[in-house]
Amino acid sequence: MSPAAEGLPHPFARPLRAGAVSLVSPVEFGRMLAAPEPPLVVDVRPPAERALARLPNDRSVPLSELPHRYGELPSGREVIVYDQFGSQARRAVEYLQRKGFPRSAALEGGLDEYARTVDPSIPRYTAGLSPGGLLLRQFPRADSGCLAYMAVDVATQQAVVIDPGVDVAPYQAALADGPWQLRAIIETHTHADHLAGHAALHASTGAPIYVSHRSPAQYPHERLREGDTVDVGPEAIHALETPGHTRDHLTLRLGRSIFTGDTLLIGACGRTDLGDGDPELLYESLTQKILRLDDATEVLPAHFGPHHALVDRYASSLGFERATNEALNQGSREAFLKYMTEGWPPKPEAFDRIVRTNLEA
Ligand SMILES: [Fe+2]
Repeated sequence: MSPAAEGLPHPFARPLRAGAVSLVSPVEFGRMLAAPEPPLVVDVRPPAERALARLPNDRSVPLSELPHRYGELPSGREVIVYDQFGSQARRAVEYLQRKGFPRSAALEGGLDEYARTVDPSIPRYTAGLSPGGLLLRQFPRADSGCLAYMAVDVATQQAVVIDPGVDVAPYQAALADGPWQLRAIIETHTHADHLAGHAALHASTGAPIYVSHRSPAQYPHERLREGDTVDVGPEAIHALETPGHTRDHLTLRLGRSIFTGDTLLIGACGRTDLGDGDPELLYESLTQKILRLDDATEVLPAHFGPHHALVDRYASSLGFERATNEALNQGSREAFLKYMTEGWPPKPEAFDRIVRTNLEA
């Protein structure tokens, strides 16, 4: 019997009805993995994708092999199936349930959503990964609430690190995970709240450091202006000048994602009174640059969590922020300027010293 006749994906197959397949949310799945008796986790992606990112202690049964291999799975046990974005796993579960696996379910949103919302240490990659694609990895620091990023072009093996923290061991370890060569280190802006890792990462890898042409940096660096690009394989990181949080702030666009630094955070935007910021410039940057992008744009900020009075989420979409972000919903330019200049706690004393250290040669 052909795989199509067995109910596996076919170009003419109807989309699944909502509710036709059992789903588990990424958060619920995280709880299940931590339970004393975790479910059997099955990856139905092809091996090429599995080499880029996977869940620990899972089992690989590519979807194309499922008709011949479903008998390997224990029918009495809970089985959670995953793929990259969730659609193929739903097909696999629909098939398994017909074959006598009533306790099978698909991970909603796939590995990508799980990495985005629950475990950012898992690399993410672009859709249609053949033969190359982009790996994207977030590095959250719970102690400081900082987020750094690494993007890798799988075909050319070139990597870029954005806003590294002063402890560069996590980036070095991630670079050693594959044959990745660090092509560039980019700072979205001069940070006031934490010591930056560009110098240490440059010292250990030789990769050049890119900053805004407006940065007063004393260390050797390449300058980025509006529209400049840093290539990551065939994709390029595009620089948008978004001054406001600081004068030298850049937002970096890579495909459908923007690395917003502290210009746009989840539910808020970065203060303008910590360095050389300016709320009027921030208003212009948000309304004339960021909000002109479409709602599906993924927002990847430089901070998260209670340390910065932010939510414990690592990514958002521009549409969600447009609808819910407090700073973006002040109603008028005047209200935004008032919001940015009143009611903030005092600036921590260490911030001026941190800025000076981050600019040193
Ligand atoms: Fe900042």
